[in-house]
Amino acid sequence: MPKKSSQAKDTAWAALRTVGLRKSIPSSQFWSKLHKKYPDYAARFWAVVQARGEGLPEDPFTAKNADVEFSYQVTSQYDSDRLYVFLDRFRGLFPSLEGGKVLDIGCDNGALTLAMALLYPNANFHGVDSNSSAIAVCIQKARELGVNNIGFTCSTVETSCDILGREQYDVVLTNNVMHVLWAGNSPTLDNFSLGSVAEHAFSYIETWQNSSLDPSSLSALASIRGLLSEGGVYVSLDRWPDFGKFSVWVQALEQSDFQLDVSNSNVLVFEGSDKEQERMPLTIARVPLRAPLTADEAFSVFTRDHFFREKAYLTFENPDSAETVFSGLNRHALLELNFVYKDGSGNMIVSLGTAGALSYLYATTSRGYRRLSLAPLSYIKDLYAEMTSSTVIPNPSVASCSARLEKEQMANYELDVRYLNEIGILEHDNPNKASTPVPALK
Ligand SMILES: C[S@@+](CC[C@H](N)C(=O)[O-])C[C@H]1O[C@@H](n2cnc3c(N)ncnc32)[C@H](O)[C@@H]1O
Repeated sequence: MPKKSSQAKDTAWAALRTVGLRKSIPSSQFWSKLHKKYPDYAARFWAVVQARGEGLPEDPFTAKNADVEFSYQVTSQYDSDRLYVFLDRFRGLFPSLEGGKVLDIGCDNGALTLAMALLYPNANFHGVDSNSSAIAVCIQKARELGVNNIGFTCSTVETSCDILGREQYDVVLTNNVMHVLWAGNSPTLDNFSLGSVAEHAFSYIETWQNSSLDPSSLSALASIRGLLSEGGVYVSLDRWPDFGKFSVWVQALEQSDFQLDVSNSNVLVFEGSDKEQERMPLTIARVPLRAPLTADEAFSVFTRDHFFREKAYLTFENPDSAETVFSGLNRHALLELNFVYKDGSGNMIVSLGTAGALSYLYATTSRGYRRLSLAPLSYIKDLYAEMTSSTVIPNPSVASCSARLEKEQMANYELDVRYLNEIGILEHDNPNKASTPVPALK
């Protein structure tokens, strides 16, 4: 009886074969066969390959996807072993995906996406690619094969989050895609030193603080992050040309709120065309499950220099994140103001206080508005100034205002405390939301 892993490999190959992939053959034989069978497509594709060899920015994917069969012949020659090694590893990572939703970004002609849909009949797959010819090939191929648990959309990585209608996926993968995106806009790594890198490819963490990342390179990752459900997994196989680029890639993941899964990330080895061996890092990154941040954790996030570049405060405008982070703070309120709207429709509490090494300012209304600002303790004066100016719209519609003030504590911070006696309805309030009283802060 064959061993389990070879059975799994056979299964992966069987699915790729069903889709229409074959193993590569020697290059010279491949090109002469291709020219004979598809003279026009082959001539066009050959011209593009030559131009790229000379450094011209030709797009190979339109030429490749001029025809379904032609496209699958080219993928068979250049990508079949990589797709097979990847699929085999993917099956090890996800033995079952019952009811799961998987998004393959940069799916090209859909060979991998379709093979996965065959291997996981009880999961749902979606492929996106920026190339419309590639998506046309995917759709035609899915129809030919009668695969129903799959859909395709023409979209870029960056716009997928908007185009897919805020759909959330359990697994998002990019296979040999991200290096294409970053080619013209490579993140830079300053002062990167190989000296501190240990033997294992994923033990570079100490070097991160020496690096800098171009924030514009992060938009694709932000989109991918937005497409994943909580606890979702991002799987990336890519061709990082050197360790410096690879290290920046992992740093970008970390800055995009992913947690690197070190034990499952690895390097995949496969055969390219003409049997040369290639190696590509497989990076598995997870969306962290939301545990409330402690003040110290929030502070350590906050003190990273990229936050300081923009402004001194870390502000959570999203009501859910503001509430989650606020509830995780070990806080001590110094000043708390409770306002009741003049029409009696609700109230607002604004609280200023300390939490460990942080000062916080939290505004919450009965209509669902939440806004949390965190700053180092020494910035409490600035937060107070923010509270008395921008947080509250100076529109005299207040019916009553009560304040609880710990005078002695505030005196420590030399604040000029005046009660606020004007309050308006915040711009961000949702008038359709039912009004529920805000509980007093402790
Ligand atoms: C090297 S191919 C990889 C295809 C496939 N994932 C595989 O593993 O064989 C890169 C694919 O990324 C697509 N692509 C390039 N830039 C993209 C972008 N900004 N958004 C989405 N897809 C993109 C290309 O059209 C192409 O199909």
